[in-house]
Amino acid sequence: MNNIDYLRSVIRTVPDWPEEGVMFRDITPLFQNKKAFRKLIDTFVHRYYDHEIDAVAGVDARGFILGSPIAYELNTGFIPVRKKGKLPFETVQESYELEYGSATVELHTDSFKPGDKVLLIDDLIATGGTMIAAANLIKRLGAEVVEAAAIIDLPDLGGSAKLREQGIDVYSICEFE
Ligand code: PRP
Ligand code: ADE
Repeated sequence: MNNIDYLRSVIRTVPDWPEEGVMFRDITPLFQNKKAFRKLIDTFVHRYYDHEIDAVAGVDARGFILGSPIAYELNTGFIPVRKKGKLPFETVQESYELEYGSATVELHTDSFKPGDKVLLIDDLIATGGTMIAAANLIKRLGAEVVEAAAIIDLPDLGGSAKLREQGIDVYSICEFE
């Protein structure tokens, strides 16, 4: 089995969570399993090692777990894209719709230097609302989104296509229906 097939096989699907009809793709087994966690982080690090990334931005909350070790290995800082009301300093905000519900994300206004090349990381792309909002925040601060990267893309929900339509390159390790 290749690395990608292996990582995909470790993801657990929980039907009807958090509500009926949602097939929840649970990535906690990828973090729990030491072999899977190392392969997961290494896959992203190898992809971006030569991209001269200035900062890794990770989305609240699973993007924090994923983005931090990637930033460490790429020798960059880590910037948390947080849910509304968690950042103490001056912020910019964007609101978006989720597969279930709605939310607002924020960045500190001093997160990047103008022109910084930013790798944007989250665990999963569904409708794309979260990644698009995060990418908009990064661009509003004058930085460049090199790629929006996730473990999982759910292409049937159209998020990755929407990101690409907006000129944002997208990478995912695997896809689920
Ligand atoms: C999930 C997931 C992504 C987002 C993807 O986070 O971790 O951030 O939804 O959905 P989208 O592409 O439709 O925007 P959630 O908002 O559930 O927050 P959590 O990480 O705090 O559980
Ligand atoms: N976030 C939004 N949709 C999701 C899904 N189907 N599985 C895991 N996380 C999600």
